[in-house]
Amino acid sequence: MPVEMNPSSRTWTLSGGNTSYVLHRDEQDRLLHLYWGPRLGGDVLTYNPSDYSSFASFDLPVSVLPSELPVCGTGWFGTPAVGIRDARGDEVVCLKVVSAEILSGKPGLPGLPAVYTEKDEEADTLAVYLDDAVSGLQVTALYTVFSCSGAVTRSLLLKNGGSEPLTVTSLLSASVPIWRGDLDILHLNGAWARERRLMRVPAGEGEFRIVSARGASGHEENPFLALCDRNADEFSGQVWGLSLVYSGSFLASCRTDIFGHARISIGMNPDVFSWQLDPGESICSPEAVMVYSAEGLNGMSQTFHRLYRDRLARGFWRDRSRPVLLNSWESAYFYFDEKKLLAIAEKAAEIGAELFVLDDGWFGKRNSDNCSLGDWTVNTEKLPGGLAGLSEKIHGIGLKFGLWFEPEMVSPDSNLYRAHPDWCLHVYNRPRTEARQQLILDLSRPEVQEYIVSAVSALLTSSGIDYVKWDMNRNMTEAFSAILPPERKKETQHRYILGLYRVLEAITSAFPDVLFESCSGGGGRFDPGMLYYMPQTWTSDDTDAVERLKIQYGTSIVYPASAMGAHVSAVPNHQTGRTVPLKMRGDVALGGNFGFELDPGKLPPDEQEEAKQMVARVKALRDLTRTGTFWRLLSPFAGPVTAWAFVSEDRRTVLLCAYSVLPVPNSAPVRVRLRGILPDTWYKTEDDCRFAGAALLYQGITLPLRGDFDSFVCLLKAD
Ligand code: DGJ
Repeated sequence: MPVEMNPSSRTWTLSGGNTSYVLHRDEQDRLLHLYWGPRLGGDVLTYNPSDYSSFASFDLPVSVLPSELPVCGTGWFGTPAVGIRDARGDEVVCLKVVSAEILSGKPGLPGLPAVYTEKDEEADTLAVYLDDAVSGLQVTALYTVFSCSGAVTRSLLLKNGGSEPLTVTSLLSASVPIWRGDLDILHLNGAWARERRLMRVPAGEGEFRIVSARGASGHEENPFLALCDRNADEFSGQVWGLSLVYSGSFLASCRTDIFGHARISIGMNPDVFSWQLDPGESICSPEAVMVYSAEGLNGMSQTFHRLYRDRLARGFWRDRSRPVLLNSWESAYFYFDEKKLLAIAEKAAEIGAELFVLDDGWFGKRNSDNCSLGDWTVNTEKLPGGLAGLSEKIHGIGLKFGLWFEPEMVSPDSNLYRAHPDWCLHVYNRPRTEARQQLILDLSRPEVQEYIVSAVSALLTSSGIDYVKWDMNRNMTEAFSAILPPERKKETQHRYILGLYRVLEAITSAFPDVLFESCSGGGGRFDPGMLYYMPQTWTSDDTDAVERLKIQYGTSIVYPASAMGAHVSAVPNHQTGRTVPLKMRGDVALGGNFGFELDPGKLPPDEQEEAKQMVARVKALRDLTRTGTFWRLLSPFAGPVTAWAFVSEDRRTVLLCAYSVLPVPNSAPVRVRLRGILPDTWYKTEDDCRFAGAALLYQGITLPLRGDFDSFVCLLKAD
């Protein structure tokens, strides 16, 4: 039984995989956190108040209480999990547990993406019901523990059960005290073209916060934060990771209390969020996914990978190999006609690609990024036969046909904007801030949602489209919806995201066979919320293979290879100017959903042949890279050699991938130890070298890397 309730000790013990998470209802009916760590083997913990208070202190007991739901106004001085302002303007809440129940499986969350179960046996859910007698606020804290992995999810459902309006001023999805302070913080920091660099800083005094206020999860920080032992590494040590299934602004923090103990939190960013609850109304927080690992960072990542690949992603493509694609962006940008596209597509088919994707520039009068977003009608000067005509010809070549959209946007120079100037996010009487010469449609408005669903659906119905790249290329300004009353203006960002989710649910469920890939100037919205609707995301606009090592390594901290778009582009690379051999470019891209961003016809003949062989190899390996356990072995942030590996479920096949960048002269050959394979089995490479599993595990394999931009991809199979 993954959730055990002990009425005498008043504890709930949630156990799964190697993890337990324990809650307690104290004598005053407060919900306290007792434990999150290695599996306890049953309900063995009790609460002793003196363990949590000092002998003598100036501080209020609540400020150091291991509260599971810190609230505002009664002595908790950090960001509250639940902050409420009542009709008189007072911000005080006192939540008491009223009851609790244990449910099989996992309920969905209204209007929000969330991980799910397919069978009830996969997980149990604990619902704890609390209320605030004075305001009438009712809170349901939902905890699901997955039996196999031990991942715990949490979200809060707030309902106004009183008779006057309440305003939610703060809403965290998880806030967990870790009764220790000697820890490091991990987060994924970045920028456009250098997303998700793994950062590690000591958890010190005060508060460490990462935020997005952009209205998207953003390039700068990812909705993820972890604490780990100071000596934890990829393979050993304890890690506590929080990931938020949400695509908008967020806050994640680590706050150290007066005893030096850390509390880790994740949820809505109160700087750009508040929500009015009229009597009877509810709001649900996004879901936090909490993963504990006693086996270092790889252990945490592998749990996230399986959960996000198998129980967050949905639909037809979830369990299928993704097609090798060729995207027109870097080979054609805005400058193409049908003849040029067909020539690229024919070459793509010759090298074995399966899907041709027409990127930006096919609609309205768009020949640069200064117009036409919102006018989703084909530019017949470029494509005289329309999209249906092009799609038919691409299908005739033997390729599937994919199309780029940026449906959330509008260009000031567009028919849509001229017809509906009020549909964008804007503030009365103020200039509308443009970025990339575009404005954002106000997706909190039902008529805007309807417009997007019908415009995109019409094209998907009429044009033979097999794949959609859903892009979003700027962040929010003037994010105060024109249709909301003053007291609700700060709801705009969250209402936008809820509107976006409504739109995505409508479109993806109406076109279940279409493969959707999300994108936001590359990886500016690479988050679990988007992965619920679209099983893959364009990882970064940076296609340089050297930079990609860091980007893909960092992304893998939370996200599976099956979620990452990874393409081979032309050299010199358009983002960095670097020239990397085709072999290494291909060897890096095979670590994700493989594709090209170049015109194969422009490659010299020997490289065209090389590309063809590369695609054949990708097709042979893509089941393994999609479903295998991913191991980070050597970090690109730590030295000149990067290595990772994919190990099959039965541990009998392993794909080792290693890369060398700026090697140090006169250095010893690099040896890397494999992980997760069988010690008592012999493994054979494709050129018949045999290795004992134990030797690969404990002594390692010497990497035959020579010089700069070299790569080594080696398939080993149990012999
Ligand atoms: C940003 C994306 O990340 C690129 O891949 C490309 O689709 C451009 N937008 C097109 O405008």
